[in-house]
Amino acid sequence: MKTAITEMFGVKYPIICGAMMWICKSKFCAAVSNAGGMGNLTAGNYSTEDEFRDAIRQTRKLTDKPFMVNVTILPSVHITAEHHKMYLRVCAEEKVSGLEISGTPLDKVVGKEFIDVLKKAGVKLFHKVGSVRHAVHAEKIGYDGIYAAGIEEGGHPLNDDVTTMLLTPRIAETVKIPVVTVGGIADGRTLAAALALGAQGVMMATRFVATQECEVHDNIKQEIIRRQEYETTLICKSIGLQGRAIKNKIVEDVLAVEAKGGGLEQLIPLISGQRVKDAWEFGNVDNAPMMMGQSIGLVKDIPTCKDLLERIVAEAKADIERVKNIFNK
Ligand SMILES: Cc1cc2nc3c(=O)[nH]c(=O)nc-3n(C[C@H](O)[C@H](O)[C@H](O)COP(=O)(O)O)c2cc1C
Repeated sequence: MKTAITEMFGVKYPIICGAMMWICKSKFCAAVSNAGGMGNLTAGNYSTEDEFRDAIRQTRKLTDKPFMVNVTILPSVHITAEHHKMYLRVCAEEKVSGLEISGTPLDKVVGKEFIDVLKKAGVKLFHKVGSVRHAVHAEKIGYDGIYAAGIEEGGHPLNDDVTTMLLTPRIAETVKIPVVTVGGIADGRTLAAALALGAQGVMMATRFVATQECEVHDNIKQEIIRRQEYETTLICKSIGLQGRAIKNKIVEDVLAVEAKGGGLEQLIPLISGQRVKDAWEFGNVDNAPMMMGQSIGLVKDIPTCKDLLERIVAEAKADIERVKNIFNK
């Protein structure tokens, strides 16, 4: 495959793993990159400069292929503005291949000058956005690409609530930098659709959790296979931090607190990071809000990353041929 993304990074497939707090660490990141996609190292998983720098170096020992580093710039109890600045400085010093920024854009965090420092270090800058206006801003301040994340995505979709189907072509027709589709992507059909919508690549997160190499408890992988596309929901809209999670006991509790007008103080014990971390590790699916996208409906097995990516690309090629034949008849 040859797209602006494979060319920019020199990767085999334009298929990128999205940031996942508690999950995207060195080993798994390297596994995705070694399989021909781009793995993700999520900076929020590391609380000190040494730990973070070690994680980048550790990943480089496990793969000689490029990977993305995510810095999530959203309100958080444990990750402060000082952490954000430290992550960005270390990324420039270590000359990582690319940054996936989500939340606040870089000019508001480190200023325009530091964007130039990152670019001089060869770091490609991508912002994950849910609207055309945010994509336009990112392009204006010097980003190299856009992740267009629709309301279907796991994690924190923008409360504009625009679907991936609309967001990809709207952003692709508006900005000149490459656009990568995020949300609702999990197989060859959805990769083919994203390319047809004007994307140069796709990002997946939920699909990557159900792979052999992903270091979460097997209960969670089995749960992903069991669940359907209608079994996720949006939580924490009321506190301005909407997130898409699979429906479970805790999510019901969160929605009940929100319906009664409960605020952050009542919600924190239900959504705390430790609770989520434990659930991924020990496989207690009902015990935490677990971020997942609607793409969950397309996940039916637990392949290796290599088999998954090869299959997705082969399927996409066949799907595009099938559609071509419709026009040739
Ligand atoms: C378990 C999980 C954790 C996530 N954590 C983060 C995060 O820390 N920062 C971020 O920007 N996005 C996060 N996301 C969002 C993903 O990076 C990606 O945008 C989204 O999940 C794509 O939709 P999909 O899961 O349907 O493929 C997370 C998603 C999941 C599933």
